[in-house]
Amino acid sequence: MLFRKIREMEFPAVGMGTSRTFDVDDSIPEVFSVRNKIVEECQNNGVTLVDSSPMYGNAEKVLGLAIQENDPSKFQIATKVWTTGYRSGLDQIDNSFSLLKTEYIHILQIHNLVDWKTHLPTLTGLKDEGKIGLVGLTCMTPSDYPEMMNIMKTGKIDSIQIPYNVINTRVESDVLPLAESMEIGVLVMEPLQKGKYVKDLRVSPDLGPLSDLGIKTWAQALLSWVISNEVITSAIPATSNPKRIKENSLGAIQMPKELRGFVKRETERCI
Ligand SMILES: NC(=O)c1ccc[n+]([C@@H]2O[C@H](COP(=O)([O-])OP(=O)(O)OC[C@H]3O[C@@H](n4cnc5c(N)ncnc54)[C@H](OP(=O)(O)O)[C@@H]3O)[C@@H](O)[C@H]2O)c1
Repeated sequence: MLFRKIREMEFPAVGMGTSRTFDVDDSIPEVFSVRNKIVEECQNNGVTLVDSSPMYGNAEKVLGLAIQENDPSKFQIATKVWTTGYRSGLDQIDNSFSLLKTEYIHILQIHNLVDWKTHLPTLTGLKDEGKIGLVGLTCMTPSDYPEMMNIMKTGKIDSIQIPYNVINTRVESDVLPLAESMEIGVLVMEPLQKGKYVKDLRVSPDLGPLSDLGIKTWAQALLSWVISNEVITSAIPATSNPKRIKENSLGAIQMPKELRGFVKRETERCI
């Protein structure tokens, strides 16, 4: 696994998201056991950064239970606050600690900038108390990027989470240069465009030019493309299939510039 730093903390270049994939009924053994296996595969393959949110239904609970079944000390947990109001924010964060069965959250993010003016002092306070490691923001709508960048400029933000992939390169013009200049970490949501650029291709992409790098699948090519921008800390693809964790972990490969160009042209040809 390739590692990247935010402040003094190291994170794997490929982590895992839990939107939709972990919003399942934990009381059904055959359903929970698949999520448990996914988390076990994360542990075995260095995919130790796991991202969730109170917005994702039962995901925080299922993730917390599965981490307990494995070795909790191996994982770095990112989650979010997604509500309005001071008291409601505190209650939601308390609930996340409880569902995730942890006393420390590595990255706590304000989900889609919701009520950020209220939550930012709360998160800064939790960081000062040592209950969280980093203060983050997530933002997925380009019309909100100017507001996100203004919050980044307060100097109180350690990480952002934005969509970035071989076709959606909107953040390259302004968001990523600002993150780089302020040494703000960048987590990448939707690195596979919700799976579309792997599962919905019209024709099969040519993996030939990537074989010397050790890239064997198109998902690996797309993840390698994302994390080869060195401003990126970690891409966090979600999956409901335990076998894909190892596959995705092997996408944590630094790719030369000319091959990034090839992966982009090849994706455009195949979609
Ligand atoms: N505003 C926000 O804060 C925000 C918004 C969006 C996302 N996020 C975070 O970012 C994470 C990732 O985004 P996302 O889940 O929307 O999109 P994504 O990671 O781009 O795509 C997930 C989809 O890709 C498929 N997939 C994963 N690995 C694969 C592989 N090796 N081969 C083929 N298909 C593969 C999965 O299907 P299978 O289940 O079949 O593997 C899944 O349906 C989320 O889970 C969440 O944690 C945050």
